[in-house]
Amino acid sequence: MNIKTITIGAIIAATLSSVAFTHEGATGIVKERMDTMSIMGKNIKLLVPMMQGKSTYDAEVVKAAALEIKSHSGETMTKLFPKMEMDMPTNISKAKPAIWQEWEKFSALSDQLYLYTDGLVLAAENGLNNNAPAQDNTSMMGSSSALMGGTINAIPTLDELSAMSADSVFKLVSNACSSCHTQFRTD
Ligand code: HEC
Repeated sequence: MNIKTITIGAIIAATLSSVAFTHEGATGIVKERMDTMSIMGKNIKLLVPMMQGKSTYDAEVVKAAALEIKSHSGETMTKLFPKMEMDMPTNISKAKPAIWQEWEKFSALSDQLYLYTDGLVLAAENGLNNNAPAQDNTSMMGSSSALMGGTINAIPTLDELSAMSADSVFKLVSNACSSCHTQFRTD
């Protein structure tokens, strides 16, 4: 009987902790996008040590992670942010109202993430270039954007991305994550 009690207690505890883990009671579309974001976060975390040369570089793992993130970006991501009103009563979401006020800007960032992860799939085979940043296309981009009058946000084409080192493209990917979070997520 004691054993039974403990078992049930353990099940309840496990259930409760899994509820807490699934984003503190978020439901519906809010939960869906939090889960999606978490999946992307896991993929980024997997690649960070590889991109820093701290774990063995594996182009197949890089491709798979990039494809996974890509599959959640672009329009697939923006569809998870249908309307501001729906989110407000839950008070759990960290989505800023700015998303719906500046929708073009928001969806452009999601499209950039799509482009960069598409690029990372292609650049995965190029491997790392951590020790030779001077040969990198990003420096070319830097000078061309300086020529264009200091436009900082020149977006490389898929062709250009495919010629870059994997870690350079990875930087663009993670910058797309953080620049959206800075503008459109609270905290
Ligand atoms: C176009 C904007 C945008 C892009 C791009 C973006 N995010 Fe997010 N992210 C958000 C918003 C908005 C939230 C808050 C969602 C909410 O709470 O309703 C969020 C939340 C998160 C969370 C927290 C989820 C939770 O548990 O509550 C993680 C982790 C995350 N994003 C990771 C990433 C990663 C990794 C990338 C890049 C691969 C990325 N995001 C790209 C807008 C974006």
